[in-house]
Amino acid sequence: MAAGLLASEQLMNFSEIIDTALAQQRALLHAPESRKSDTPLRLFSVREVSHALRVKYNSLRQYLNTLDGMPEGTVEPGNRKYFSAEEINQILEVLRKAGKLEDSRYPRRLPGDPQARLVVYNLKGGVSKTSLSVNLAQFLALSGYKILAIDLDPQASFSDMFDIQADVEGLPSIYDVLRYSDADSGEGPIPITQAIQATYVPNIDIVPGSMSMTEFEFETSANFRSGSEGTPFHRRISDALEMVDDTYDLVIFDTPPHMSFAVISAVYAATGMLIPLSAGMLDVVSLAKFLELAASTMQVVEQHQDKRYDFIRFVLTRYSASDPAQLQLSSFLRSHLSGSMLSHDFVSSTAVADAGNTMNPLLELPPSSFHRRTYDRIFESLSGIADEVDAEIMRAWGREPFQREAD
Ligand SMILES: Nc1ncnc2c1ncn2[C@@H]1O[C@H](COP(=O)(O)OP(=O)(O)OP(=O)(O)O)[C@@H](O)[C@H]1O
Ligand SMILES: [Mg+2]
Repeated sequence: MAAGLLASEQLMNFSEIIDTALAQQRALLHAPESRKSDTPLRLFSVREVSHALRVKYNSLRQYLNTLDGMPEGTVEPGNRKYFSAEEINQILEVLRKAGKLEDSRYPRRLPGDPQARLVVYNLKGGVSKTSLSVNLAQFLALSGYKILAIDLDPQASFSDMFDIQADVEGLPSIYDVLRYSDADSGEGPIPITQAIQATYVPNIDIVPGSMSMTEFEFETSANFRSGSEGTPFHRRISDALEMVDDTYDLVIFDTPPHMSFAVISAVYAATGMLIPLSAGMLDVVSLAKFLELAASTMQVVEQHQDKRYDFIRFVLTRYSASDPAQLQLSSFLRSHLSGSMLSHDFVSSTAVADAGNTMNPLLELPPSSFHRRTYDRIFESLSGIADEVDAEIMRAWGREPFQREAD
């Protein structure tokens, strides 16, 4: 039947079928009644608050009863108190004012501290860049960091996880911030503040990604050819961030799995780098090749300015210690990269990958929906990673990182 069709027509037909199916699926997923953004983040128990703020459980209970300005919380069946993410922020500030939180436990910038900018970087697809960025952002936000997440992937899966779809909703995206001026239409870049969207997590704002980021790549090449003036591509992100330098403690970049001018611009703007390595990537040859490429990317940047990071760290993702091959490779990497590997791995867990095969941020799931041991294992993994990243930021701010002690 299809014999008469040109190959291009056949492909176009497939494209239309898939396009329609995807549009239907999206409409279902983002139907008003299923939008995550319409419901706030869940409430957290006093024990969870004590973990997030790194205050001993018994001390926190006492502070909640005695210090002025503490939030009421919500009493749930069993007469236990629960707190919203906003209330956790309020508790943080009350504790700080009352002198109960020393600098090493206060995840906000103090005068003179530079904005921390973390790029989650690996040119390989599917190594958990987005899952890691989202979970890390949520853990750090709950402990008090004010975070701006910038989604540089045209697939915009980070933005999707926060229910923000610039392309579908016609919202400005990172493209509109980074784009070049068009002499014909008179259109030019917008200030980053106009592209920032609040999310349902109080301490996380986002500059959404969009398909049009591919335009940025064309425009940059065209700009090279025409030799036009204007801000060079590698400085576009760091220049844009100047406007919000005082607003956020931490900027997190989620990057696409391919080299692009936008990635180089993020690498230039960053002050720290986290490289997720999945077991699938652990053939060491491809890791060495990737690092070689990363080094030459850095050289491009360093032609303009020396670049020194506060830290570059590797983290194993989708890690399964029960797989002997992974265990062997993990110990190989640990022995060679020693101090540069985070000591916590992002464990593999199907429990958090839902039917749509997208990862749910852990803090959005009620712990009761898991087997207790499963939840604890994932929580420990992500909280450990967040603590290690927090320690790096604290060091960059000249503070002695906080060591957790058991309650
Ligand atoms: N720790 C994990 N356990 C189980 N599944 C995971 C884990 N981390 C990620 N996944 C799943 O693996 C897939 C790829 O993860 P993710 O999208 O985070 O990777 P990525 O590096 O951002 O991919 P891309 O390169 O396409 O941007 C997703 O389906 C995600 O749900
Ligand atoms: Mg991704």
